[in-house]
Amino acid sequence: MTQQPNAPSDTAPYGRPGPGDTSTAAATEWWRDAVIYQIYPRSFADGNGDGMGDLPGIRGRLAHLRDLGVDAVWLSPFYASPQADAGYDVADYRATDPLFGTLADAEAVLREAHDQGLRIIIDIVPNHCSDQHAWFRRAVAEGPGSVLRERFHFRKGRGDNGELPPNDWESVFGGPAWTRLPDGEWYLHLFAPEQPDFNWDHPAVQDEFRSILRFWLDLGVDGFRVDVAHGMVKAPGLPDIGHGEQARLIGSQILPFFDQDGVHAVYRSWRTILDEYPGERIGVAEAWAPTLERLARYVRPDELHQGFNFHYLSTDWDADALRAAVDASLSALGAVGAPATWVLSNHDVVRHRTRLGGGLDRARAATLLMLALPGSAYLYQGEELGLPEVTELPDEVRQDPSFFRDSGQDGLRDGCRVPLPWSGTEPPYGFGAGDTWLPQPDDWATLTVQAQTGDPHSTLELYRSALAVRRAHPGLGAGDAVEWLPAPEGVLAFRRPGGLICTVNTTAEAVHLPLPPVRQLLSSRAPFAGPTPTGPSAAPVREIPADTTIWWAE
Ligand code: GLC
Repeated sequence: MTQQPNAPSDTAPYGRPGPGDTSTAAATEWWRDAVIYQIYPRSFADGNGDGMGDLPGIRGRLAHLRDLGVDAVWLSPFYASPQADAGYDVADYRATDPLFGTLADAEAVLREAHDQGLRIIIDIVPNHCSDQHAWFRRAVAEGPGSVLRERFHFRKGRGDNGELPPNDWESVFGGPAWTRLPDGEWYLHLFAPEQPDFNWDHPAVQDEFRSILRFWLDLGVDGFRVDVAHGMVKAPGLPDIGHGEQARLIGSQILPFFDQDGVHAVYRSWRTILDEYPGERIGVAEAWAPTLERLARYVRPDELHQGFNFHYLSTDWDADALRAAVDASLSALGAVGAPATWVLSNHDVVRHRTRLGGGLDRARAATLLMLALPGSAYLYQGEELGLPEVTELPDEVRQDPSFFRDSGQDGLRDGCRVPLPWSGTEPPYGFGAGDTWLPQPDDWATLTVQAQTGDPHSTLELYRSALAVRRAHPGLGAGDAVEWLPAPEGVLAFRRPGGLICTVNTTAEAVHLPLPPVRQLLSSRAPFAGPTPTGPSAAPVREIPADTTIWWAE
């Protein structure tokens, strides 16, 4: 019997208790080992042929996610937005952008995803809105002294005539974090000028976001990915930092605008709302915190459920560094009782096939390592196809706002946002009908879903097998510890309770490793063996090829 997220029945898909069942919901904690797939709506699938992905496109491709075997989907923003930052500039939090479809389309995606056993998490963007948001437009129109300006950070400038920004803060996208209006006042925007920061000390802002959460929870969403979760609350008095190049400090220091302690009160308040709804609705923090201990504060029992582990994402393909990151993560998150939440790629970073510097073999090995670790994992659309970063986009097609501002983020986020290839041998590879909003490379014919389906060497079939094995094997998924086994330089080997051993060779040479009696479940190296019917073998020494992860059953 299957049970759908937020639908009234007794058991979840694949035998897990589900959200509609309040008697077991507390014990279910589906999010502790969920594999959650990020959809970047612009680039997933195009339903109306305008070259831009949309909600009907997503709806038409839900079967791909079901066949892949993920538990849930995170949708990047599809709110009404002028798209100054690809939808992370929200003009209306209760409306969809016509670019992506209607609210009815969003409801249809939710309903049909639930019918297929998939939960849906949406992005919420609370640090800032769009300069076209009604509150900000009115605040600007009403001029200095308007009470609506108190919902943002408006200030007079410094200097004899107020010609200097109110403090020395820099935008994450580069340049000053302040823009001056013709009336002489400045407003704060930690990202693009089109993204004014809310003043989270203002009760109206707090109330508004509680109401927005309820709006989407009432529609049936299963949770929220909280954008810039380390933002929102600013240090009193907005003190100077004292030096430049501040974007480089994000995630390594507490700044007067990031990772302020006051933000946790917001999440406590949000958690009470999430908990009012049946079905274990969750929050996941995009928090670039300076340490894993600071990240763990966002996932204390009365705050959010998960926080992306960017420390792990930023770790090189180096056995010692990976082992240290895994240990530090499990210890910091375990201390607050939260699951580790692993991630290798998303819409803001170079795709891990390219970033790790070892091509597809290394990317596949990294994925199998991640999926063997205790906790939850996020996949970014296209990694299941082994897509590389598109590094040769011409400047004239680039859209990332940080590309157009200097000394901020690297400005190269378009290369991981190129529309997915579904079928066929040339662009748009079944994505839609005409030119895509970012051009696709000419050599992606072998990377389409269609080309990879049924090919036992393909990355898509590796991901499908990995998620199927992960679902079935008691040694994979939720947990809080690994037992490291002896391994040579450059090799990781660990055992998990439940009889799973994972071996990872990060080096460029095959290695031989003594192991207890095991049978191979899955290898990242093509052709990978799927689950085999054979029993345990006594062979004491196993070969692990270069840049390869193998899962073994004891
Ligand atoms: C988050 C998003 C990123 C966006 C920024 C501003 O980091 O992931 O894409 O540009 O917030 O909203």
